[in-house]
Amino acid sequence: MGDDKLDAERSARLKVWDSAPRPFVTPSLLNCDFTRVGEELDALKAAGTVAVHLDVMDGHFVPNLTYGAPVIRDWRKRTEFPFDAHLMISDPARYLDDFAQAGCDTIIFQIEAVPDPTELIRRIKGAGCRASIALNPPTPLASIEPFLDLADAVLVMSVMPGFGGQKFDPSVLDKVRALRLERPSLWISIDGGIKPDTAKLAAEAGVSQMVVGSGVFRPDGNYAAALAELNQAIRSGVERGSAPAQPAAPTPE
Ligand code: DX5
Ligand code: ZN
Repeated sequence: MGDDKLDAERSARLKVWDSAPRPFVTPSLLNCDFTRVGEELDALKAAGTVAVHLDVMDGHFVPNLTYGAPVIRDWRKRTEFPFDAHLMISDPARYLDDFAQAGCDTIIFQIEAVPDPTELIRRIKGAGCRASIALNPPTPLASIEPFLDLADAVLVMSVMPGFGGQKFDPSVLDKVRALRLERPSLWISIDGGIKPDTAKLAAEAGVSQMVVGSGVFRPDGNYAAALAELNQAIRSGVERGSAPAQPAAPTPE
């Protein structure tokens, strides 16, 4: 019974996710003010955000610690944003049910932590969530190829995971281009060092979604302006790109 409600709410959130024009920006809360997350979520909503990205770090897979399922469960009470949960943890299978129950919608795990994720992907989908495979900059596409038919999405990391505010690694765009060419309708996300200039390159290469931390939570607090600048850069990248057409990037209000 409780689960029916959870499933219905998740389906509604995923409908919002699916109907958003691509590529869209997903702010990462890593750089938000954690003393006032509720207000930050309201501000992102007012700025036109579709969904938020949650960076979960265990101090083991990555050299940093953030938050886990109990914290996300509380945020879920405060917002209907789809939650794009990036599990930078060594044992995602162990905590999967907690994150699904907490109201996460996309579950992103790292291929370096789970080299054969066949069973994990099945479980993620069985829980009603989308399954996304993340790969770090040095990790080749060959490591995820065998699982692409099973997964819902791929997250191409453009920095080594662990910290916000790092420099974008342009060499990962080769992976985006190769994936886009091979799979025209695959959901491809990119995460790390996305600012207007790199957003343009990523859009041109054919990404579907961009995770942006410090580029949205910038010191002036004007999230609407940050998103508008990113979206403008994305539109010009889409226009320049030769990637197969995706629904158009958002137009300004
Ligand atoms: C990096 C995280 C990212 C990070 C992005 O470890 O996975 O989601 O928050 O932050 P920026 O946009 O500042 O690189
Ligand atoms: Zn992330």
